[in-house]
Amino acid sequence: MARIKSPILAAQNVTKTFTTGKDQELVAVDNLSFEINEGEFICLLGASGCGKSTILNMFAGFTQPTAGEVLLRDKPIMDIEPRCGMIFQSYALFPWKTVRGNVEFGLKIKGLSGAERRERAAAFIEMVNLRGFTIIRRNCPVACSSASRSRGSSRPILKSS
Ligand SMILES: Nc1ncnc2c1ncn2[C@@H]1O[C@H](COP(=O)(O)OP(=O)(O)OP(=O)(O)O)[C@@H](O)[C@H]1O
Ligand SMILES: [Mg+2]
Repeated sequence: MARIKSPILAAQNVTKTFTTGKDQELVAVDNLSFEINEGEFICLLGASGCGKSTILNMFAGFTQPTAGEVLLRDKPIMDIEPRCGMIFQSYALFPWKTVRGNVEFGLKIKGLSGAERRERAAAFIEMVNLRGFTIIRRNCPVACSSASRSRGSSRPILKSS
């Protein structure tokens, strides 16, 4: 008998509330359940403030549900999930670092040597067509166009691939 595959990601009765003041709570996500299966491409659509980023933050392990569970391959996501790549709504770049400095940052945190970092960063920079924006200080992200900043922001995903 064929084995039924479990979903990649699932939310089970997830509620997330934020404390917004003394005795004041805001319900950002209310008893949400859904599953995402292999091969599916999912978009979360909804009005500003309806809870999309709150859901993504829980799937990335940045925050935990107030009630219910978010699951990756049937296991609760309890901490930052290294298999998850996120491109943030804001660019999440260090404005004082060059493009190369930004791309290398995650690799540095992972403990790669300077030579390895430079080699891998160069490949990623080439991949997203940002060669020429790498070293010069005036080419810090603040000096890049919006689209270039977005490509630079994809470093959290690129670094783990
Ligand atoms: N850390 C927080 N503390 C308090 N309230 C928060 C926090 N994060 C989000 N919220 C509130 O939770 C609700 C959902 O916010 P969220 O950022 O998930 O919305 P969104 O759907 O991503 O909106 P947008 O389309 O504008 O990005 C909003 O009312 C927001 O103000
Ligand atoms: Mg959002």
